[in-house]
Amino acid sequence: MASSLFRRKPIASALREHEPDVAHPHPEGHGTGLHKTLGVRDLTFFGIAAIIGAGSFSSMGTACASGGPGVVLLFIMCAVACGFTALCYAEFAARVPVSGSAYTYAYVSFGELFAWVIGWALLMEYSIGNIYVAFSWSGYFTNLLEAFHIHMPAWLTVNYTSAHASALAATAGEGMTAWNSAPMLGPLRIIFDLPAVLINALITALVYVGVKESRNASNIMVMVKLAIVALVIIVGATQIDIENWTPFLPNGFGGVMAGVSAVFFAYIGFDAVSTLAEESKDPQRDLPKSMVWSLVICTTLYILLALVLTGMVPFAQLGVSDPLAEVFQLRGVKWMLLIVSIAAVVAMTSVMLVFQLGQPRIWMSMSRDGLLPPRFGHLHRKYRTPAFSTIVTGLVVGIPIFFTDENFILDFTSIGTLFAFVLVCGGVLLLPRKEKTPGRFNMPYISAKFIVPSLVLLALALIVWLDPHHFHRLLGRTGFAPNIPMLVFYALCAVIAVNSFRKDWSLIPVLGLLSCCYLLTGMAVSNWMWFGIWLVVGLLCYFAYGYRKSKLAT
Ligand code: ALA
Repeated sequence: MASSLFRRKPIASALREHEPDVAHPHPEGHGTGLHKTLGVRDLTFFGIAAIIGAGSFSSMGTACASGGPGVVLLFIMCAVACGFTALCYAEFAARVPVSGSAYTYAYVSFGELFAWVIGWALLMEYSIGNIYVAFSWSGYFTNLLEAFHIHMPAWLTVNYTSAHASALAATAGEGMTAWNSAPMLGPLRIIFDLPAVLINALITALVYVGVKESRNASNIMVMVKLAIVALVIIVGATQIDIENWTPFLPNGFGGVMAGVSAVFFAYIGFDAVSTLAEESKDPQRDLPKSMVWSLVICTTLYILLALVLTGMVPFAQLGVSDPLAEVFQLRGVKWMLLIVSIAAVVAMTSVMLVFQLGQPRIWMSMSRDGLLPPRFGHLHRKYRTPAFSTIVTGLVVGIPIFFTDENFILDFTSIGTLFAFVLVCGGVLLLPRKEKTPGRFNMPYISAKFIVPSLVLLALALIVWLDPHHFHRLLGRTGFAPNIPMLVFYALCAVIAVNSFRKDWSLIPVLGLLSCCYLLTGMAVSNWMWFGIWLVVGLLCYFAYGYRKSKLAT
């Protein structure tokens, strides 16, 4: 049993599935039947389409409000972690150019059980993450309607959970208004976020019709959002008051780390590019390039945006759901409000589009491997899209909109995605070294043998020197609860340093692993608990179906 849990899919077999199907040729001549239409520019645009969205237009505000101007450090840390992870994704994408993202990569390196776990974790990134985006989209969309004097009743613009929480806490605001004005169905108040439900239905329909149509829509949206984010940075820069940048760390480094879910969420998406491998013209060359390009462009914009936001107003005023509109409101630059709302709606639409396009393709790969029922892999006769999976994705995003709230979803998505990234970086360490192939991405090999152990020792020495009571505190000897995630992280650092030395590991994936694990230490213990429950449910599903039906089992 134990060995069959770790049965690995041979890379050659993953590639074979990608070859032309002679018995059932597709009009465009490709075995899997997906249209091969995407080049580097399209894929980079897809990456940007997935990255810039609710993170920059909504959750960035919360992070700035807790971390102050120092939140820029967190943006840099997340960029570093994502950068190393992108290179690991790129290495995998160059070796295994088939749809499925980290799931497929895990299948060829770690084996089936991990592949399933990663596929299950990615469900959080792609589907659950879209719930947060839909909520944020709805917020900016209703702002936009208000600008045109169209007013929607509060009970149709907030989610039930938030309204209930506001009523319990007796907090005045939209939630409370919704609670008090909602029509009743028997004992139940009818409160739901209608725009969020509608945008999800619309995106599902677009993705169902096909990638080419979605691509055109996505490219236009990306150009609009890049132009407007640049405008926000330029206009915002003229409003900076440098006094707002001091103190740089008003709530210490803890305040900065409290924003980790919010900031990391803003980076999620570069990896979605890898789910389009089978629709790319030359995946081994183009996927890696586009992932790195989209990440570089977005990181630059985020750092500038965070500096501008925290420079324009005192950081504490940024803890709102629409910070980019709020700063211009507070500075009295009214003409920017409408532009920002339009940009936000466009940006988040494109995020939803890419994620909703990615999820069915992961399920399609899992279905081909026998881990999900065959229907998940069926292509629509006319549109050549994974039609059933697309509809299920629409439901997985749409139904929770009725009974969850955005903060829970934000944390849940970030922890699941970071977990998937950890497995991807770890997976690269298990791949056999290969010869460099001209014209393809080749991850530079730098030996971690001495560098990583030295870095770990240096960091420890620095910590003890700067804060002699650090480990006392972590162990809970100062009256506070022990910091379990941080202790686990230190133990991991020790294991990784020893293995880097013994096995001469490659530096880039090791740094990716360490930086993603470090970001995970910022997650609250309650998030870990929910994530654990989620994983257990996933494992039950695997043993009930995938383990028995896997193609590798037969
Ligand atoms: N990075 C994506 C966003 O911010 C998920 O909306």
